[in-house]
Amino acid sequence: MNAMPGKDVIVACDFSGRKEVLDFLDLFHEEKPFVKIGMELFYAEGPDIVRTIKARGHRIFLDLKLHDIPNTVRKALAVLSSLDVDMCNVHASGAIAMMAEGLRGLTRADGTRPLLIAVTQLTSTSEECMRSELLIDRPLEEVVMHYAANARRAGLDGVVCSPLEAGRVHEVCGGDFLTVTPGVRFAGGEKGDQARVATPAKARELGSDFIVVGRPVTQAEDPVAAYRRCVAEFLG
Ligand code: C5P
Repeated sequence: MNAMPGKDVIVACDFSGRKEVLDFLDLFHEEKPFVKIGMELFYAEGPDIVRTIKARGHRIFLDLKLHDIPNTVRKALAVLSSLDVDMCNVHASGAIAMMAEGLRGLTRADGTRPLLIAVTQLTSTSEECMRSELLIDRPLEEVVMHYAANARRAGLDGVVCSPLEAGRVHEVCGGDFLTVTPGVRFAGGEKGDQARVATPAKARELGSDFIVVGRPVTQAEDPVAAYRRCVAEFLG
């Protein structure tokens, strides 16, 4: 695996195009934030936006949430690995064989690879939806922890979860299993569409390894100051 310093703040760059994201990153003169690129930006701009941001010295979490048959996921992750991203992800609901094959595809000839983490249950899926639409008749937390344990068994490095679940994931999967946690807001800030939120300081206290912060930084009046506040609160 690539050497990866422990905890960090990842900025979710949920912009629709190249100009918007590069204008945003141009605001940073001293720091090189760890950047999350999601589906919208990747599908709009293609792999070139990953190469451009990487060439500027940022680490990249490519958040494409792959979910397909094992062979397809392995080949797709081999392509993403060649883009030199630092972290990418798959859906744990693709099951252990898919996650394990994905990991194989991600591993480069020299044995290095980006971190691979799993999405357990999307936070948009409620327990009621699981029961009535997906016919999953177990408590949500039990499903999340079981999927996290599956990801660990497949050899993955961690999961995406709420900061409020980070401690339990570490109990079930071990302290070295990474928790990458969105749903972070400053004290007194707008929650927006996030329901279960924690401040960067609280996420730190709860044991998150990486916090993913979008709008509190990207939409801030002074994004650099907001980013610095996140880093100061989270890393201490
Ligand atoms: O703007 P905000 O801080 O809410 O952004 C959080 C980021 O984390 C977004 O890119 C969102 O898609 C992502 N995310 C999330 N909840 C999940 C998984 C990913 O908010 N369960």
